[in-house]
Amino acid sequence: MQVVSISSLKGGVGKTSVTLGLASAALAAGIPTLVVDLDPHADASTGLGVEPNGENDIGHLLKNARRADIAAAAAPSPWTTRAPQAGQTQQGPVLDVAVGGAFSGIYDRPDLKLRNLRRLQNILARQSKYQLVLIDCPPSLNGLTRMAWTASQRVLLVAEPSLFSVAGTERTLRALELFRKEFVPGLQTAGVVANRFRDSSAEQRFRLDEMRTMFGDSLLSPVLPDQSNWQQIQGAAYAVHQWPGEAARHAAARFDELLRGLSTSRPEASRTTR
Ligand SMILES: Nc1ncnc2c1ncn2[C@@H]1O[C@H](COP(=O)(O)OP(=O)(O)O)[C@@H](O)[C@H]1O
Ligand SMILES: [Mg+2]
Repeated sequence: MQVVSISSLKGGVGKTSVTLGLASAALAAGIPTLVVDLDPHADASTGLGVEPNGENDIGHLLKNARRADIAAAAAPSPWTTRAPQAGQTQQGPVLDVAVGGAFSGIYDRPDLKLRNLRRLQNILARQSKYQLVLIDCPPSLNGLTRMAWTASQRVLLVAEPSLFSVAGTERTLRALELFRKEFVPGLQTAGVVANRFRDSSAEQRFRLDEMRTMFGDSLLSPVLPDQSNWQQIQGAAYAVHQWPGEAARHAAARFDELLRGLSTSRPEASRTTR
């Protein structure tokens, strides 16, 4: 089982969008996948077509971590009903969601103790249904993100090529380094994805170059462009792989490449001081 956190300490940069794109690529590749929606806003659940239900949501599973059966509690995404059925396999496509909700907010405190930080890790260790677990994190370094990092082998960072986002990514990398030293020595950076890149903007081209200098090989390829039909696809709760048209096909191919990259090891992110 590979567990990947999708993080940034800044909101609105595309964590949920990247989580959904990777989930779509994993579904297309036939990889049994669980999305853990750890952001109390539950945007990933909505994008995957699953209504926050309050009963079996991730907050309640975390509260009952000792007994929680995440595979039983997770909801299948309706995306799977549109996925081509793999004729040879007995099992249909698997893409489940550990549904998000406000209740998980009880753990989003800055002072969470190690026993609490391990709740998600303990729950995931008991399941055998999924090969890939994608954790959509909230935009802070409080308890929920730290719980996600504790449960993960890798952290994928998302950044927009803009001043505050690049600076925020540097801060996140620093926080990740400290966290790794203190709590999870094996935790790796999966790299930095640049999202919403607008080639027509000189400022964005400048910031992307800056990111190349700052993050070196850890800046992942491909860069994700700002895409006009993105919100339409997400609003319809569709997988990008299942959306018609050339633009969606290109976007889907980019997520296929990012997903492939997640299974190869990368050097740690380098940072330059400015
Ligand atoms: N590459 C993109 N092109 C166009 N819109 C995007 C792109 N990535 C994200 N968005 C939009 O930006 C907004 C914030 O993205 P979201 O994934 O919710 O960020 P986060 O989870 O980091 O808060 C959403 O409305 C989303 O549809
Ligand atoms: Mg989000």
